[in-house]
Amino acid sequence: MDFYDVINNRRTIRDFVDEDIPKDALERIIDAAFKAPTNDHLRDWEYIIINDKETLKKALKTVPKGITNEELEELFVNWNLNDKLQQECYRNAVPKQYRMFLDANLVIIPLLKEKVDILHPENLSHLNGFASIWCSIENLLLAATFEGYGCSLRIPLNDEDLILKQELNIPDGYFIPCILGIGKEDTSKPRNKQKEIDIKSRIHYNKF
Ligand SMILES: Cc1cc2nc3c(=O)[nH]c(=O)nc-3n(C[C@H](O)[C@H](O)[C@H](O)COP(=O)(O)O)c2cc1C
Repeated sequence: MDFYDVINNRRTIRDFVDEDIPKDALERIIDAAFKAPTNDHLRDWEYIIINDKETLKKALKTVPKGITNEELEELFVNWNLNDKLQQECYRNAVPKQYRMFLDANLVIIPLLKEKVDILHPENLSHLNGFASIWCSIENLLLAATFEGYGCSLRIPLNDEDLILKQELNIPDGYFIPCILGIGKEDTSKPRNKQKEIDIKSRIHYNKF
């Protein structure tokens, strides 16, 4: 796969088949994550790999297991989701928020050492650590694609990060930017359509 094939093939995958990821491939993927740019040169990141389903079930016990159609319609209104393609994506994604981790071969929890209060930044540079770990996560997503795997992704809501920290013995002072599932895609399930963007209309030379 050349670089642009990797970019074009990376998708958020929420349906997996049961297939193990070899440890050497996993370590190459995590190694790629540690090659991302970083604000302070330190790469104060940790990656927890969960391969035990019982641990996983405890760690994700408050992630919603499903959603009714009425709740989904309410969510569209509350979150202001008006675009048809976007609604289609959420219709597919929201009911899978728990299963997409249980069915993944492994779950990965990125951790960032929190040096400033990320949820109450005083200026943009207070978000540099947060931005850096997302660069790391993107490297991971691309490396996983290159290795032939797909990833699901969720932002922990409500008490989900607290439960993860308790169940996984995460020391104080770490921030969880997202939960990742990684595994072999179930290609019999349809992928969400990506929104097509007219790139020429989004590039602005000299002035907006
Ligand atoms: C910051 C961020 C937060 C996201 N949160 C979730 C999430 O909570 N649950 C989920 O299933 N997908 C989540 N996604 C994945 C998006 O739904 C997905 O990237 C988007 O629909 C585009 O699809 P694609 O990744 O297949 O191109 C998130 C992605 C990003 C970058």
